[in-house]
Amino acid sequence: MKVLFIGDIVGSTGRRALKENLPALKQTHKPDFIVVNGENAAGGKGITGAIANEFFELGVHGISMGNHTWDNKDIFEFIDKEPRLIRPANFPPGTPGQGSVTLKANGKELLLINVMGRAFLPPLDCPFRTLDKLFDKSKKRPVATLVDVHAEATSEKLAVGWYLDGKASAVVGTHTHVQTNDEQLLPNGTAYITDVGMTGSREGILGMEREAVLTKFLTQLPVRFAAAEGKYQFHGVVIDIDESTGKAKSIKTIRIYEGEFKMF
Ligand SMILES: [Fe+2]
Ligand SMILES: [Fe+2]
Repeated sequence: MKVLFIGDIVGSTGRRALKENLPALKQTHKPDFIVVNGENAAGGKGITGAIANEFFELGVHGISMGNHTWDNKDIFEFIDKEPRLIRPANFPPGTPGQGSVTLKANGKELLLINVMGRAFLPPLDCPFRTLDKLFDKSKKRPVATLVDVHAEATSEKLAVGWYLDGKASAVVGTHTHVQTNDEQLLPNGTAYITDVGMTGSREGILGMEREAVLTKFLTQLPVRFAAAEGKYQFHGVVIDIDESTGKAKSIKTIRIYEGEFKMF
């Protein structure tokens, strides 16, 4: 089973990158599942129902989120009706939406889980204890599982990777918007990467307009951030999973820079 996971899609430039590159990626990798992190899809701040539907129409099977989940109030209108879009599972009990979903496609099943780290981010419930509940041995669940760990600290993401080695098929990090080059198979069969990276403008700062970000750093005044335009970058990973055991066979990074080069 092949899973294509695409790092944080930022604004209209990121959405354009997705639309322009998915056909070739589908042809090359023939993914059974396509999952994207959509926390920055609406101008950098959250996601709307229309954008989520646009992703599904392009062939995306599941969308995970992060600390920007609630930035666009549109989400409250549809998160409880759209199980294919999930938010971090360790938000407090009673939070709208779900933190995991079983995706189904091509006669296959993939359990998608989203958790958020707590280092330099709001203090949510413990992600490790939340994962304990989701991987409870007594509960029936799909053999193949993918965890999007949305976190700032490299150590926290690596800790989740090792914590789930042999339990999850893949643990992929998101949030920093910079792809790390530590993709690897952990000894018990979990594919891991600290951060998948970002799909959006490469002319801004982490996908946002660089003038605004610079003003913020230079003046410390409140600044309104908007998603940057211009040339895009597309960052993702392709994970190959043995369907009978749930263990990963390979993880490969994808990097595409508009007008420059493609590595996939
Ligand atoms: Fe993000
Ligand atoms: Fe984030």
